[in-house]
Amino acid sequence: MDYEQIMQLALERGFYFPSCEIYSDAHAGFWEYGPSGTSLKNKFIELWRRELVRRDRMWEIDGSQIMSGSVFAASGHLASFADPVIKCKKCHLIFRADKLIAEVSSIVIPESADLDQFDKAVAEKNIKCPKCKGDFDSARKFNMMFRVGIGPQDEAAYLRPETCQSIFVDFPRLYKTMRGRLPIGVAQIGKSFRNEISPRQSLLRLREFYQAEIEVFCNPGRLDEIAGFSEVENTVLNIMTDDVIRPMTCREAYESKTVPNKLVAYYLGLLAEFYRKTGIDTGRSRFRKLGEKEKAFYASVAFDFEVETTTGWLELVACNYRSDYDLTSHANASKEKFEVLDDNVKVLPHVFELSMGIDRSLYTILEHSFREDKENERVVLSLRPYLAPVHVGVLSLVKKDGLAEKTDEIFSRLKTRYDAFLDHSGAIGRRYRRLDEVGAPFAVTVDHQTLEDGTVTVRQRDSMSQERIKEADLGSYLSASLAFP
Ligand code: GLY
Repeated sequence: MDYEQIMQLALERGFYFPSCEIYSDAHAGFWEYGPSGTSLKNKFIELWRRELVRRDRMWEIDGSQIMSGSVFAASGHLASFADPVIKCKKCHLIFRADKLIAEVSSIVIPESADLDQFDKAVAEKNIKCPKCKGDFDSARKFNMMFRVGIGPQDEAAYLRPETCQSIFVDFPRLYKTMRGRLPIGVAQIGKSFRNEISPRQSLLRLREFYQAEIEVFCNPGRLDEIAGFSEVENTVLNIMTDDVIRPMTCREAYESKTVPNKLVAYYLGLLAEFYRKTGIDTGRSRFRKLGEKEKAFYASVAFDFEVETTTGWLELVACNYRSDYDLTSHANASKEKFEVLDDNVKVLPHVFELSMGIDRSLYTILEHSFREDKENERVVLSLRPYLAPVHVGVLSLVKKDGLAEKTDEIFSRLKTRYDAFLDHSGAIGRRYRRLDEVGAPFAVTVDHQTLEDGTVTVRQRDSMSQERIKEADLGSYLSASLAFP
């Protein structure tokens, strides 16, 4: 199995496809979710809400996608959210400097390195434009935010490059109106926008993408007082430091100071548990500690949660200890007060974030669930039942003899409680194969016996086994089988 097979399945079964694809001026890096992809995404989000947001009684908000220039001047994005680029003097094509240098010379220079390091590598290795063999200009920084002009005066504003900025800007109001106590998590799901220089591989590097972000505001003097730590202390994390992956429990990670404090160990544990429940093979995951040059400009400690796929290790979540970087910056720029009382002591909270890429997570779930069952000549998406885009197919064995009407009646009863898919047409084997490919865990088939004794067959996706159950028991059977963990 490889990336191309997932892509083909995504296109043919309504998971995702390129945006504006009927026009030749469609831009790279924009993709749409079809019905199967949207349904999978919604269920993934529901699992995230259950496992992280509701579990810790976080507050979820829904902020604007366009934010004022002042926000990004204060946050540092206007000055620092930029990638190094080099431009060909002859054909004027622009390349991301670190990526091109790594591809053609295998010299690895972190994206945040000083610009003269890129110029030096280009000169030393005599790197030319891959298209026209022209020489390159000196490296420069390209800011990745999309500028938008507001109103007829075209005032500068920006599409947010990360959802969390509204969480920071809104924090004083939220803390007051929601009567907060530290530590408190604030969560947000939504679109973010980055003008990537080389978007590629469909959902893996997008210019418009979904994030699920959690910002935990905490008292920096009480990072080891975490209620609930015992619930995850035995959860195993694969932590990678200095190029070595070491499995250890959350408690071991904390006690050995592999992670800086209990709060970070706790949230890495919750995250590992969450991904296990998505069906991703967490045996092929790691929390990679980032080096000084690799971290985002706002992070003082950072772990990337990465999962191995056929495209290599993919970063799904950035876990950043942002300290008081954001609150101090916004307090200074806006003159708003961001300190709060914690047990009658005034503190400026620190922030630890779990910044999740939803699109990449969905790709990884698809890849880790994809199975070629050669013996039965089928492709199966072995999704966890609660994440399946279609919960249950409802099929008539044949259309005649009143079976179609009976099938319609059963479908009508199921369709508002479950994601049910009605299918009367074609050979039954082919209908089962189509359901297997969208990961439907169950198929209910109405046959002649249904009319005689009120039973239907229920076929299981993974084993292909079939059992007869009473039509009246279908609801409770499905509820029990599809329940979230
Ligand atoms: N909020 C962190 C990120 O978007 O990577």
